[in-house]
Amino acid sequence: MGWFPEAERWSTWLSRPVTRHIFYGVVIGFLLSHTPTSFTRYLKPRKRRETETFDSRPIELRSDEIVSGVTGLIGNTPLVRINSLSDALGVEILGKAEFLNPGGSVKDRVALQMIEDAERNGLLRPYTGSRIFEGTVGSTGISIATIAKARGYDATIIMPDDVAEEKVKALLSLGAEIERVRPASIIDKKQYVNLARQRASRFAQDDPVNSSLPHNHTLYSTPSSVVVTTTSNVDLDQNNWQNDEDFLTKPRGYFADQFENRSNFDAHFKGTGPEIWRQTSGRVEAFVSGAGTGGTVAGTGQYLRSMNPEVIIAISDPDGSGLYNKVKYGVMYDRREAEGTKRRHQVDTVVEGIGINRMTNNIELALPVIDDAFRITDEEAVAMSRYLVKHDGLFLGSSSACNLMACVKLVKKKGWKEGQNVVTILCDSGNRHYSKFWNDDYLRNADISINLSLVENILQ
Ligand SMILES: Cc1ncc(COP(=O)(O)O)c(C=O)c1O
Repeated sequence: MGWFPEAERWSTWLSRPVTRHIFYGVVIGFLLSHTPTSFTRYLKPRKRRETETFDSRPIELRSDEIVSGVTGLIGNTPLVRINSLSDALGVEILGKAEFLNPGGSVKDRVALQMIEDAERNGLLRPYTGSRIFEGTVGSTGISIATIAKARGYDATIIMPDDVAEEKVKALLSLGAEIERVRPASIIDKKQYVNLARQRASRFAQDDPVNSSLPHNHTLYSTPSSVVVTTTSNVDLDQNNWQNDEDFLTKPRGYFADQFENRSNFDAHFKGTGPEIWRQTSGRVEAFVSGAGTGGTVAGTGQYLRSMNPEVIIAISDPDGSGLYNKVKYGVMYDRREAEGTKRRHQVDTVVEGIGINRMTNNIELALPVIDDAFRITDEEAVAMSRYLVKHDGLFLGSSSACNLMACVKLVKKKGWKEGQNVVTILCDSGNRHYSKFWNDDYLRNADISINLSLVENILQ
């Protein structure tokens, strides 16, 4: 034995031909399976995950499973790379394909969560003749009508009379009762959301089957201003209704109230946000979304921020919406409201579904995480929609086009040139918008030009 007995033992062991071959084989195999790229890949996510608690796992694909009914088709939507924009910018622009939900929009998630939460809280019970009421510009109504049928409810949708006709046709085909009203300010009792609340309150009274019954109650529950009406004798103030069989089996009117209902936020906090995180393996630099009720940006934004404090959350805000000024200057305001130059009703834009001029619970939940806002003109939204059809074969609705225009503006503003992931929501398909946004005659009459160079120039 010399001075280093261990080293001597190793060299004797290695000098045997069989063990030497095995040793070199293992070393070479290890080195080949760990190329410099795989090392970088391994280290990159690890650096990001220092503060994470999320356990990354594969995306759940539906292709190899049988789902239960129409609600089983909701969520788990793919994230699609927008090739034309990503290639031009060098930055990955990824769209969450929400138009693939069975009701055709991101609102399926919200409708399902609102109905399931109401059932869980004992406010709604299937097959009791109960009716769900909602005030909506259409997408949420279609989602509610779809799920209502699947779960044994009826639906009444109150909507402004200037929304695209195809949404009305979809609602009628789904067996919903529709009331179309003149667009009005939220302080007006006849505004569509206010009317939906009133109709829900009066449901049990007006219902011909139950009108002979003596009692009618309205139950307000927080945090969402849920209205539930019933003809039961139960004393709602005594809070004993959850065990009262009479109450539980009676038809009820339920006001879903997506603007104020916390379930809206939860649908995205529990669904859209985690899905995006999984699909990008936690590598998302920015999330861009429009806000109609604010539920999408609030829930998804808060989830992503909780996973990565540095993720940028940005709003795409159409013409006529006050949210842009709220984010930039703290005041919910749009100059068209003030100057009386409004060309259209509600939010003054041809874009449907996003833009808002008042504070709601869900907007309140969104504001703390919103870093930036981008004003998207009607011309820019139209140009982006046509550009995407021309280069990608993607036929999208107006709010999706706004979102993608805002993604491009964000990337340009940040000076990003390579490797970042910017995620947005592709809320619905162009086939919900034939009569307005995708109708060239309509646009011409509304003085909105179709000019693809608005996109081409910014991409250069
Ligand atoms: C087509 C479309 N896109 C986007 C949104 C906005 O989503 P949120 O209400 O979560 O802000 C809506 C809302 O109704 C919509 O109908």
